Amino acid sequence: MSQIGENLLKATTLLESDELVGIPTETVYGLAANALSDKAVIKIFEAKNRPTFNPLIVHVVDVNAIHKYAEFDPISLQLAEAFMPGPFTLLLPKKPIISDLVTAGSPKVAIRVPNQITTTKLLMLLTFPLAAPSANPSGYVSPTTAQHVLEGLKDKVSYILDGGQSEVGLESTIVEVKNNQIILHRIGAISVEQMEKITGLKVVVNEPSDHPASAGQMKSHYATKTPLYRGDIDQLIQQYEDKNIAIISFKKLYEGLKKGHQYILSPNGDLKEAAKHLFEVMRCIDEFHFDIIITELFPDEGLGRAINDRLERALAINKS
Ligand code: TXA
Ligand code: MG
Repeated sequence: MSQIGENLLKATTLLESDELVGIPTETVYGLAANALSDKAVIKIFEAKNRPTFNPLIVHVVDVNAIHKYAEFDPISLQLAEAFMPGPFTLLLPKKPIISDLVTAGSPKVAIRVPNQITTTKLLMLLTFPLAAPSANPSGYVSPTTAQHVLEGLKDKVSYILDGGQSEVGLESTIVEVKNNQIILHRIGAISVEQMEKITGLKVVVNEPSDHPASAGQMKSHYATKTPLYRGDIDQLIQQYEDKNIAIISFKKLYEGLKKGHQYILSPNGDLKEAAKHLFEVMRCIDEFHFDIIITELFPDEGLGRAINDRLERALAINKS
């Protein structure tokens, strides 16, 4: 039987038996397991080849359900009510029911309410929340379709629920409220401006580091196999003229390079559309075995910032 499908009952049964299921979300696909079962959660780390010091996000059906697993402060609650369900994750003090395996020993748990109909239905059928990182082998680009999950994880995942292509295409915004300050750990579709408008507080940006346990984010991530360079595209084309180049551009077609080697994320200059297609394009270029990828800085606004963040982490100079 096919590993990809829309059978919610099958997904439920597998999850109840501590197996792994790929789930669609509006951001990217997740690799899900029963968050209350260490036996199930450990399988996530094994399947992704992910170090156990890198904690997992817990997915719940609605804001109300969060109270069972974590403690709210007033600012976090305000943010939750404004942006959940949605591409938004909160770090909150965990209740004892959440194990140290899920949080990698941290007293805080990352929680999110996905906004994707198939996964909402699944969560409604389950009596437990789902621990789920992005459903890619550790370090590689996140999946935005069920097929991507299968390509990356093969028989390491029992079943993948198909919910079509992820609408947002980039991972959730992650924040933490500490001493009445909002700290941004990862930028996604919920912007700094949106959070500042709702709370009236300034958002402090936590710079990425090589210590995921402290920052929740590694500097090098989301990386293509093909080395990626960013800068002025015309200049880079000249600099690497002896190479077989692929271009990821926002909206412009460049002269002096075959059309088929250029991946324009949104000819109309729509950042939402660009974000939705970024990871798919990165995967596609890897399959065609180009020597290098050249890209540019996207506009420093809204989803452009999240796109720039992901490209920054994928840069050849950030890969060790
Ligand atoms: O959009 C998303 O957030 C997707 C979908 C599947 O929900 N999930 C996702 O998970 O991107 P993952 O594991 O690929 O990225 C989550 C990030 C990791 O960098 C992890 O270190 C951080 O969140 N994180 C998770 N729990 C944390 C915690 N308790 N404290 C600090 N950082 C945490
Ligand atoms: Mg990930």
